[in-house]
Amino acid sequence: MAAHMRERWGSGRGFLLATLGSAVGLGNVWRFSYVAGENGGGAFLLVYLVMVFLVGVPLLLGEFALGRSTQRESAAAFETLAPASRWRHLGLLGVIVAGLILAYYAVIAGWVLKYLSLHLMGSTQEFAAAGFANAFRGFIAHPLEPIAWQFTVMALTVAVVTGGVERGIEAVSKLLMPALGLLLLALAIHSVTLPGFWQGVAFLLQPDWRALTRPQVYLAALGQAFFSMGLAMGVMVTYGSYVAPQRRLPRAAVTIAIGDTLFAIVAGLVIFPAVFSFGLDPAQGPALAFVVLPEVFAQMKGGAWVGAAFFVLLAIAALTSAVSLLEVAVAFAMHRFGWSRKRASLGLGALIFVLGVPASLGFGPWAGLTGIGGRGILDVMDFVAANILLPLNGLLIAVFLGWVWRRRDALAACDLPSSRLGRFWYFSVRYTVPLLVAVVLVRSAWTG
Ligand code: PHE
Repeated sequence: MAAHMRERWGSGRGFLLATLGSAVGLGNVWRFSYVAGENGGGAFLLVYLVMVFLVGVPLLLGEFALGRSTQRESAAAFETLAPASRWRHLGLLGVIVAGLILAYYAVIAGWVLKYLSLHLMGSTQEFAAAGFANAFRGFIAHPLEPIAWQFTVMALTVAVVTGGVERGIEAVSKLLMPALGLLLLALAIHSVTLPGFWQGVAFLLQPDWRALTRPQVYLAALGQAFFSMGLAMGVMVTYGSYVAPQRRLPRAAVTIAIGDTLFAIVAGLVIFPAVFSFGLDPAQGPALAFVVLPEVFAQMKGGAWVGAAFFVLLAIAALTSAVSLLEVAVAFAMHRFGWSRKRASLGLGALIFVLGVPASLGFGPWAGLTGIGGRGILDVMDFVAANILLPLNGLLIAVFLGWVWRRRDALAACDLPSSRLGRFWYFSVRYTVPLLVAVVLVRSAWTG
């Protein structure tokens, strides 16, 4: 497709909201809260902030610049910039990781829809009677029901992406992201009224310095930053490619980093006070959102409403993120194979749905299939994607930005002429990011 025919964001605000929609997802609410819970709360938050600004922002800006300067999706962007070297294949890795992540992301998003429907219909009593942990295990072990919800997620995602960049993704983001913000605000205000509010605040904001001596905290923080900011999956390259040349990128990158982080922190201030108010344990791992919180909502006054609001919020966050992951693959197939948007969305949506089915079955009929330290299928996919492929791809992208792309071109593409900010960015992608990520990768390869 010629560059002048390329789809574009209708406005700068639309670009920001769509990108924020991609960044704010299950990662901010479901993943952030349990990872922070497992890694000491406040200390984790501190390390996380450092990772976001030292690693996340420079990479985010670099990815936007790759997309906008080439006006191409992830795979083609690298082919355009390095046609004759091996680096031309790098963008394809992002496309593959995006597809892989979406496959299991849709499974978890499907659980969210199930819990949303339970709360909307006020039918959580059944779950309460069985015990929330048992009920959750029973639900995800069912051979068909979770797959039906996963299918629903994929169908919604395909519907949005089929609508196109401006009339699908951007329109939906403009509609849903303000609603998401309002819901979070309402939940946060409600949270202040809970007896465990200050305990929750202390857990999240008071650093426990001893946690800083544990290397896993750094691994977890970096992995979370990649996942939450949607880095190294081709998303930000692809979304950047729909940005008009005259828009300034550095401010967008910083805005998104701050927005994404604030969202996670406020979500934590909703979740932890609730957990403490009812004497439950914050370090529950992935079950936090699906076991601990429903129990909290069941005990809370007006909890049916709060629970419904919470799962609406989670569903919106998940959908706008899933959309961005599918868009990466769709933009790739449109460019590479000349497919129409509709054909690419339907075909790839179906393929990714099928790829995700085993992840769901892994909690039920295929529970016997485990790997990499006894993990089930979904956890293996998450481990390979989030802990290995994402950092690896991020490392390679940083090396490309800092060592392969000509300094002057890279800085110009980032809208950073040789200012102090430009020097900081260049130093980051050249040294800080590769070094930090390499250390983390090696450590996580060790610890499994
Ligand atoms: N950033 C999203 C989240 O926090 C997930 C996501 C990952 C979205 C990768 C796009 C790309 O949940």
